Amino acid sequence: MARRVILDCDTGTDDAIAIMLAATRPELDLMAVTAVWGNHAVEHTADNSRRTLDLIGRSEVPVYAGRSAPVAPPPGAPAAIGSTEPDTLPIPPATAPLEDRDAVGWLIETARAATQRFTLVPTGSLSNVAAAVAEDPAFLDAVEEIVIMGGVTERGGLLPDIETNVGYDPEAAQVVLDAGFERLVLVPLDATYRTIVTSEQCATLRKAGGAAAGVAADFIEQRIERYRTLPAMEGRAAAPVHDALTVAYLVDPTLVTLRPATIRVHTGDSPTRGRTDIAFDPAGAVHVATDPDAERFFGLLLESLTGL
Ligand code: RIB
Ligand code: CA
Repeated sequence: MARRVILDCDTGTDDAIAIMLAATRPELDLMAVTAVWGNHAVEHTADNSRRTLDLIGRSEVPVYAGRSAPVAPPPGAPAAIGSTEPDTLPIPPATAPLEDRDAVGWLIETARAATQRFTLVPTGSLSNVAAAVAEDPAFLDAVEEIVIMGGVTERGGLLPDIETNVGYDPEAAQVVLDAGFERLVLVPLDATYRTIVTSEQCATLRKAGGAAAGVAADFIEQRIERYRTLPAMEGRAAAPVHDALTVAYLVDPTLVTLRPATIRVHTGDSPTRGRTDIAFDPAGAVHVATDPDAERFFGLLLESLTGL
């Protein structure tokens, strides 16, 4: 039976590819997309989610818009910087309307009514999920597994010190990490920067054919343009497609190795606000994705998006 999944996204280009994967894989039953603020305002992330679903012929999947700001920022907390990518994805406008329920209310109601548990995949700021947990602690009981794209383990290397999904709303991230979800998987930047997609692979994707493969290739090429000057890319024409790795893990958990860890988020007005201290520890409750298989990750993207 297909696994029931809800994506909670701040949809830009990599969330869009995660949606495409989740909406097309037979192993997954995409119940809904809940949109959250993050790299862009929630109006844009909701609109982009609907555009993406339309593009791949899944406009019947409902999209709910949720939180448009952090849950409890301390006074004087710096505002989020935002993404350098355009706020509207360059694909046709959606035909299906946005649902009129608020995403957090819908998540809580869905959890209360659930006769089967579902998997929750946050790939944006954790504001919606933290709000759902705060409003109804029993929300957790309906969640079989939560798979979060967020955080970074490495310090002082080439990766950013702060990962944006955690950095935009660190208090929310800490609430979610501490909430007591039965199984919490974290896919950090360390893993996503090891599954970069190259411009040659974009050409392969485009050649494979179909609208979804073509648009995914376009999106990844745009990402490559933005990432190629970052130290972590070391001059390579390639870019991470962060959020897609969460869904790829659900389809094929053997793509990564999970290692137990404890995590502390730097919150409040600390100058290191948004950092994640990730300590690998056999007694840790969080499962951190490590050692991803980049070739098989791209193979899964190619196989899933070709011909749609
Ligand atoms: O740090 C990477 C994350 O930030 C991804 O989810 C990307 O979409 C942005 O939200
Ligand atoms: Ca995202």
